[in-house]
Amino acid sequence: MDTANNIDSTKRGKFIAFEGIDGSGKSTQIALLREKMKAKGIDCYTTMEPTDSPIGSLIHQVMTGRVKTDNRAIAALFVADRLDHLLNDVNGIAHKIDEGVTVLTDRYYFSSYAYHSVDLPMDWVILANEQSSLILKPTVNIFIDISPDLALERIAKNRCQRELFEEKSRLVQVREKYLEAFERLKDEERVLVVDGNRKEQEIADEIWEKLTVFLK
Ligand code: ADP
Ligand code: TYD
Repeated sequence: MDTANNIDSTKRGKFIAFEGIDGSGKSTQIALLREKMKAKGIDCYTTMEPTDSPIGSLIHQVMTGRVKTDNRAIAALFVADRLDHLLNDVNGIAHKIDEGVTVLTDRYYFSSYAYHSVDLPMDWVILANEQSSLILKPTVNIFIDISPDLALERIAKNRCQRELFEEKSRLVQVREKYLEAFERLKDEERVLVVDGNRKEQEIADEIWEKLTVFLK
């Protein structure tokens, strides 16, 4: 028990999903949160979607344009990758949560709701992901909200290859779809929205402060 923050890490692990458009700062904030949790003695595992499984590798080939297929097939690949992420025997996160490990994931099903519903009906995407939401709902979804212009600026500084979803108009649409999905599922899902247009540490401090409520 962390008495300063009243956090009890001895129970079932918490599951924290980071969401946001590309370049919003998810992986940066996950690294900062992991360090903070380690310092507080919380057993923590970090992961991401798409995964590095064979299904995830196929997705990466689609995202970089090396393999072409229908949008519905792409959405279904993410569904399969997510179920494997949850349930595979080697490092399935559902099992880790049962063992008391806190899991931080860079993207989960809200990414599907936001990215795929730009081209497909959101209802269909939500339904296609129903099994994942029944198996494991995030303790909290942390949405790092950033302007698409700033996200693209940050991406441009650090990457030479642009993936499928990184054009501005796409990111604008994806951000809107995130907000639509949060509104639609507000009675079922816990969502923490943080302003990502700030300095790394400022964002990290706000996440930690607000998260302590969910980690109790
Ligand atoms: P994501 O995982 O959401 O794609 P990253 O954490 O990789 O985003 O951040 C994208 C880029 O922006 C990285 O180069 C990172 O160092 C930088 N970055 C992240 N957060 C901030 C911030 N608050 N201010 C300035 N640059 C940032
Ligand atoms: P990646 O470069 O791995 O991640 P990030 O942009 O977060 O650093 O790219 C993952 C891409 O996959 C990203 O553009 C979002 C997209 N995506 C979907 O379209 N559907 C999904 O269900 C998930 C998890 C991701």
